[in-house]
Amino acid sequence: MINAKSCSSYDDVLLLPKYSDIRSRSEIDISSDLGGGLQLRLPIVASPMDTISEAPMAIQMSKYGGAAIIHRYVSIERQARMIRMAHDLATDTPVVGAAIGVTEDYLKRARSAFDAGATFLCVDVAHGHHVLMKEALASLRKVFTADVHIMAGNIATIEGVNDLADWGATSVRCNIGGGSICSTRIQTGHGMPGLQTIIDCAKTDRNVKIIADGGIRNSGDIVKALAAGADAVMCGSLLAGTDETPGKVMEDKDGNRWKVYRGMASKEAQISWRGRCASHEGVSTTVPYRGAVKYILEDLERGIRSGFSYSGARDLTELSSKSEFVSQTNSGLSESHTHILGRKW
Ligand code: XMP
Repeated sequence: MINAKSCSSYDDVLLLPKYSDIRSRSEIDISSDLGGGLQLRLPIVASPMDTISEAPMAIQMSKYGGAAIIHRYVSIERQARMIRMAHDLATDTPVVGAAIGVTEDYLKRARSAFDAGATFLCVDVAHGHHVLMKEALASLRKVFTADVHIMAGNIATIEGVNDLADWGATSVRCNIGGGSICSTRIQTGHGMPGLQTIIDCAKTDRNVKIIADGGIRNSGDIVKALAAGADAVMCGSLLAGTDETPGKVMEDKDGNRWKVYRGMASKEAQISWRGRCASHEGVSTTVPYRGAVKYILEDLERGIRSGFSYSGARDLTELSSKSEFVSQTNSGLSESHTHILGRKW
């Protein structure tokens, strides 16, 4: 029987502005305690991707209150060096995550990353609601006690959240195929609109944190994800093209500057990290060069604080309890965007 439920994503809804007695945005606390010793002043985590998160991104994300997860598409030794480098160059002890897989050397990688100074681990696979994830989390929890934060994913359903929590995850990355560089939904027909994923997953009764991963394009999307019940968001494209991402800045003959941003399941990424391409479920592209990531983070923080204030919310708990979503039509969406530029006078 076909039983399709209606599902919303970020552009389908708006948050209803509410009465506010917040006089200054400095009264607003946007921090998030993700458990297992992982506390963020800014609830943004940089994706474990080879065009986003290495030591320079980890240092800046941590400095501005978020975190980055050093990707796993390098040798165990090189990943450990990146984690150590984040420590060596950082004025304070950085919050830095390390991604691991679920097969082969993942336990060795986890131990090496942890010994190098990783603050938390991220079991990073495309389809996380899987027997290999169950086995990996069981093995990891024999070595790393509950006070070590283990993030895991990705999943798209509340059953996925509950299972990963029961198997040992402290937080779960929610959303399949919704990222800017993803083609999983087109290649496989599977997924779930991103915001609906968060609304569903946040209903979990387990003691687990929800990470809204992928498809976040601006501070408004971040506020919507947090209002839907996420404890933090994970971003790739929002941070892409900055100085702190790996890779060279390219310049064309007109002086435009670019950097590569690619899905980890893209043909290009797979060939570079494992020398062959299986099913490709992502794309590789270039994005405009955007300078230092700190300007982006500062701008996002201002937008998030402003968003909390429109909901009359002083912290994350108030935001998710007070918020009310309303749906918007296509004409509502075009009204929501700046709309003077294309106007015929
Ligand atoms: P954004 O929208 O922030 O998304 O650029 C980043 C998230 O996308 C996921 N990711 C992928 N998903 N194919 C996919 O279907 C891929 O090749 C791929 N690479 C990354 C990941 O969850 C990331 O945080």
